[in-house]
Amino acid sequence: MRIILMGPPGVGKGTQAVTLESHLNVPHVSTGDIFRALLRTEDPIGIEVRKYLDHGLLVPDELTNQVVTTRFREQDVHKGFIFDGYPRNVFQAESFDKFLKEHNWTIDAVVNIAAPDEDIIKRLSGRRVCPTCGKTYHLESNKPKVDTLCDVDQTPLIQREDDKPETIKKRLAIYHDQTKPLIEYYSKQGLVITIDGTGTIEKTHDLTIKALGEIK
Ligand code: AP5
Ligand code: MG
Repeated sequence: MRIILMGPPGVGKGTQAVTLESHLNVPHVSTGDIFRALLRTEDPIGIEVRKYLDHGLLVPDELTNQVVTTRFREQDVHKGFIFDGYPRNVFQAESFDKFLKEHNWTIDAVVNIAAPDEDIIKRLSGRRVCPTCGKTYHLESNKPKVDTLCDVDQTPLIQREDDKPETIKKRLAIYHDQTKPLIEYYSKQGLVITIDGTGTIEKTHDLTIKALGEIK
């Protein structure tokens, strides 16, 4: 299956992708995760993307498309994928459509997880991540087993630089301005499934699996 996960920053795309990945047996590809991995290297691209990530701004389209094309050179995505965080504006969506056409691939569904800005702000302000393995937690809704240590490797959890209040506001504004119009873009292709993302993580997972089952 080829799925695009869409929705505001912090709605739970990455959280849902973890369980969807094993359910659908296709890889989860998050452009945000790829960029954060680049930040941890001495790579010049990492230095370039930090300017955008830390301030909640979109990385320029050309660089983003380049990163996606590189990821597509790996064989695992050829059997299907769950894309999370890409495309993020109409230009990226048009480039992606062109890329898919060249490869004779089609998207099965665009899963749009929806929740109001008040929920998003709570989710992003309480999010903590493991700097070692990238696992995501929440101080109230998705707590680690011990204090603020990662369940997997016991590393102390940290707050993402772009989860500071001012940056959250900026990311939400960019979402409404540039990414939300993609719902209409993909609706015209008959691909959008909107999932109520206001419930628990488990509830959202169940709704997503049910909706995807109906299109199979
Ligand atoms: P990216 O990493 O994609 O950030 P985002 O879209 O802002 O989304 P998040 O990862 O912050 O949230 P999420 O929806 O995955 O939520 P999560 O599951 O963590 O991108 C980061 C940056 O990279 C961008 O700002 C940009 O600079 C750059 N970038 C990436 N892609 C790009 C592109 N295509 N073009 C240009 N630039 C790009 O959950 C959030 C919190 O809520 C967690 O604490 C979780 O535990 C909790 N939670 C999850 N579900 C629930 C629930 N149902 N109930 C209660 N709590 C929940
Ligand atoms: Mg994410």
